[in-house]
Amino acid sequence: MFFSLLCFLSLFALLTSAVNVSHDGRAFIIDGQRRILISGSIHYPRSTPEMWPDLIQKAKEGGLNTIETYVFWNAHEPVRRQYDFSENNDLIRFLKTVDQAGLYAILRIGPYVCAEWNYGGFPVWLHNLPGIEMRTANKVFMNEMQNFTTLIVNKITEEKLLASQGGPIIIAQIENEFGNVMDPYGDAGKVYLDWCAAMAESYDIGIPWIMCQQSDAPQPMINTCNGYYCDQFTPNNPNSPKVWTENWVGWFKSWGGQDPHRTAEDVAYGVARFYQTGGTLQNYYMYHGGTNFGRTAGGPYITTSYDYDAPLDEFGNIAQPKWGHLKKLHEVLKSIEKNLVYGNVTEIDLGNYVKATVYATNGSSSVFLSNSNITADATFTFNGKQYTVPAWSVSILPDGETEEYNTAKINVQTSVNEHWPNEAEKQPESLKWFWRPENIHAALKGKSHSSAKKLIDQKEVTNDVSDYLWYISSLHLDKDDPVWSNDMSLRVNTSGEVIHAYLNGHHIGTHWNAYGILNDKVEFKIKLKRGNNVISLLSVTTGLQNYGSFFDTWHTGLVGPIQVIGRKGDETIIKDLSSHKWHYRIGLDGWDKKFFSGESFSNTKWASDQLPSNKSFTWYKTTFKAPLGNDPVVVDLEGLGKGFAWVNGHNIGRYWPAYLAAEDGCSTDPCDYRGEYSATKCIYNCGKPTQKWYHVPRSFLRDGDNTLVLLEEMGGNPSYVNFRTVSVGTACGNAYESHTLELSCQSRPISAIKFASFGNPQGTCGSFYKGTCESNNDSLAIIEKMCVGKETCSIDISEKTFGSTNCGNITKRLAVEAVC
Ligand code: GAL
Repeated sequence: MFFSLLCFLSLFALLTSAVNVSHDGRAFIIDGQRRILISGSIHYPRSTPEMWPDLIQKAKEGGLNTIETYVFWNAHEPVRRQYDFSENNDLIRFLKTVDQAGLYAILRIGPYVCAEWNYGGFPVWLHNLPGIEMRTANKVFMNEMQNFTTLIVNKITEEKLLASQGGPIIIAQIENEFGNVMDPYGDAGKVYLDWCAAMAESYDIGIPWIMCQQSDAPQPMINTCNGYYCDQFTPNNPNSPKVWTENWVGWFKSWGGQDPHRTAEDVAYGVARFYQTGGTLQNYYMYHGGTNFGRTAGGPYITTSYDYDAPLDEFGNIAQPKWGHLKKLHEVLKSIEKNLVYGNVTEIDLGNYVKATVYATNGSSSVFLSNSNITADATFTFNGKQYTVPAWSVSILPDGETEEYNTAKINVQTSVNEHWPNEAEKQPESLKWFWRPENIHAALKGKSHSSAKKLIDQKEVTNDVSDYLWYISSLHLDKDDPVWSNDMSLRVNTSGEVIHAYLNGHHIGTHWNAYGILNDKVEFKIKLKRGNNVISLLSVTTGLQNYGSFFDTWHTGLVGPIQVIGRKGDETIIKDLSSHKWHYRIGLDGWDKKFFSGESFSNTKWASDQLPSNKSFTWYKTTFKAPLGNDPVVVDLEGLGKGFAWVNGHNIGRYWPAYLAAEDGCSTDPCDYRGEYSATKCIYNCGKPTQKWYHVPRSFLRDGDNTLVLLEEMGGNPSYVNFRTVSVGTACGNAYESHTLELSCQSRPISAIKFASFGNPQGTCGSFYKGTCESNNDSLAIIEKMCVGKETCSIDISEKTFGSTNCGNITKRLAVEAVC
């Protein structure tokens, strides 16, 4: 009894005792030990608290020992001094979940975060504070930044979440990539930078602070690297370890853009090169990208999905082969941790971009062999033994001799996801739709909330409480007005937003800009009448700018000029309306009245007959049964135009399936992993809806009837809408002999084996075919016996399993395609 009490007490002491975190030039030192840290970003508001334990557990199983997140200021302080830490904004619960999983945490407080998040994380009310200038030596801004940073530091300290208090947080970040944009801020920018560092230090939280992409970061701030590769990076102080805060595992997506893909081989190459060259902490940005729910997407034009091609997909499923290939790399790196952080380092240039790096401690040495050639494989002798290292790859030899891992050789399964029909409903036929129009008449008649004799930036008028702002003006024309002609148009400078234009209550056009064009002019043909004309322009944001010098001041909305153009023969007459009286009307009527709330259908204003199709500004509503089981749920919104969707009152984000990804530039499979990656290198989904599937987290659903509400802004047809679950449909392997291949359908049993060959099989997943040699025994029958009916099976790839082959002296492979 006494003994178990003692055990409990010492365990308790162990769990809560302070952990000392420091560093030297080689590594972070945790409780006296130099460490290799392998971290991944999971942004808590981009998933739900119900998803966090599973995501973090999958990260742990994937070999991470640390989870990184930003802190999202505008999510926590949407209104000045009114705070929100509830639901998926529950930062403390998230950090506690990380702690419970036994992982470390890195907290990038920012509070500017970039992150493809609305306005880079800044609350828009900041912009509207008198005298403010952001990210520079400005008292108003610094006061607000300090107020929020202090709030966060106090919160985590009260909850004992710092390593120095026995909590998980081992590192904190202030600001974010200011170094990339600071030049135009001049001396004031430098003063601000030093102030950030001094403020961070003043909190005295007992853990190191980092600043990313800040080569002039003042000591003791550790400057860190972000990018696709950081092997060439050197910190600005010999006492700072080499840290990679953002290893972009893929890229984000924009409306109208294609799906970016960064191969598992290339991510692994980047990571292996980083640790080969003395890295100590590497963080995957993102490990789980997740979803930009509601109006949180940055912009303009960043999609609701923030999948990022990460090792855990948007919905939390394991994305293979990325997850598994990196897991194997992490295992190897951890197995040589002591050598990496304590060993003597010898670098040997073997010529022609081939390098050997030896990490040796007493009696043990581990070796990296890298080949940075883009096309040429390298065969060479090292320490008396011959090695072949494929182009653009790194081999790791934990014992200094035997290759245990090569970044270009994938020995884990590739999963192809399937969108399984909802067995609870035979959709889409069974969905019964109700509808009602959005009332835009008030705006068309000129009814407004405020007015001014000028055009005002949209975020100044709305404080960004809505995407929607009406700019309304009237124009009195008499007979002999010089602009009067038979050929008139309305010219609007849109600053990159979507605009729906109406004249005298009639729709005269809708326009949006291709991604990247921020200042665009659009002309609508018009026919003015003599007397009074009402011009109603609805400007629609798609997320506010999140990056760049002075990004916070970039214009939003219709800042002008807005002109009426009259043409008479060669003569063009311009009438500038910019300083006319403009009336402003914020938001949409149905949104204010909460048409999206999950309430019942008792409201008779919803019609069930004559369901309109292709009608702009229409609300649609239906009920549906949640798909059975636990697999993630998505809703297919193809057929619709652009708008917002709510499930049981939860805003699941902006949708825009009508915006097709550009036709050209897609890769042919398989995408070549060799050579430097860029966001335009391996791209898919050409000519298809940018985003067809929208995540409906399980916790938004309930038993019985659920409600889906759509606000259709441009016009579309809801009859194809259907709910599905996402999980593995096909599991393929193409792995080398003397490895164990795990095949898994995750939550489903393997139902059949479509193809299997042990020898030199050819092709890729979905189109494998036999090579010139293979084993005598029937590999397909062997694997069927081992795997069919099971959720997971392990296959030892060897002649022992499959019998001898007539392949001669080559390294054999097993290609297998399993159906879930
Ligand atoms: C970095 C930034 C991140 C994210 C990333 C691109 O510059 O620090 O927050 O925006 O780019 O995904």
